[in-house]
Amino acid sequence: MPLTGGGYRPMISLLGISGSLRKASFNEALLRAAVKSVPHGVRLETASIRGVPLYDADVEATTGIPEVVAALKERIVSCDGLLLVTPEYNNSIPGVFKNAIDWLSRPNSDVKRVFGDRPVAVIGASPGGFGTTLSQVAWLPVLRYLGTRPWFGGRLMVSRVANLVDGAGELNDSPTLQRLQEYLKGFVAFIGESVRLKQ
Ligand code: FNR
Repeated sequence: MPLTGGGYRPMISLLGISGSLRKASFNEALLRAAVKSVPHGVRLETASIRGVPLYDADVEATTGIPEVVAALKERIVSCDGLLLVTPEYNNSIPGVFKNAIDWLSRPNSDVKRVFGDRPVAVIGASPGGFGTTLSQVAWLPVLRYLGTRPWFGGRLMVSRVANLVDGAGELNDSPTLQRLQEYLKGFVAFIGESVRLKQ
């Protein structure tokens, strides 16, 4: 947790990762909206899974962890909380997103450093009526296996999202932004509490 200007007030830094590669992704739009919705004194940086190759144990054994994955791992290590913005495919986690997390969990000996005890929140958006409910649920065993500290104090499923974005693809629907702000406020409070307990 870096310190701000004078070095007195701790600033919480979040890292948000969207699990879609689509240019006009609704989940990417949700992540952009989240950047603007974090409480004062909190910074939310974004990361992409673009460029992460398909996991291949032979590649790992011969050339090691790809650079793009190694760089993303370090960004996770230096954040206070991780925000996963997940689409839903076939009632579960999209393969590209799970694949990225699989790479990020290698080598196994590094899982504790990257994910262990790290506060994680999951949100998502879909054009349908259930707003990624099942995809969010599908993340739970993954987050448990990685030893993260998932936040269960809030839920944000953005359904019918196509009706909530403007012509430029930005999510600017007031009630949704309000829910997003409340959600992030709760997650940040949880992170603050986790940090306090560790001190
Ligand atoms: C989908 N979609 C979808 N939506 C949903 O709510 N539940 C689902 O189970 C599925 N299944 C599904 C499977 C596959 C293969 C595709 C390509 C799509 C629709 C999905 O929510 C929609 O494409 C979103 O726009 C994806 O998120 P992004 O890319 O807009 O962030």
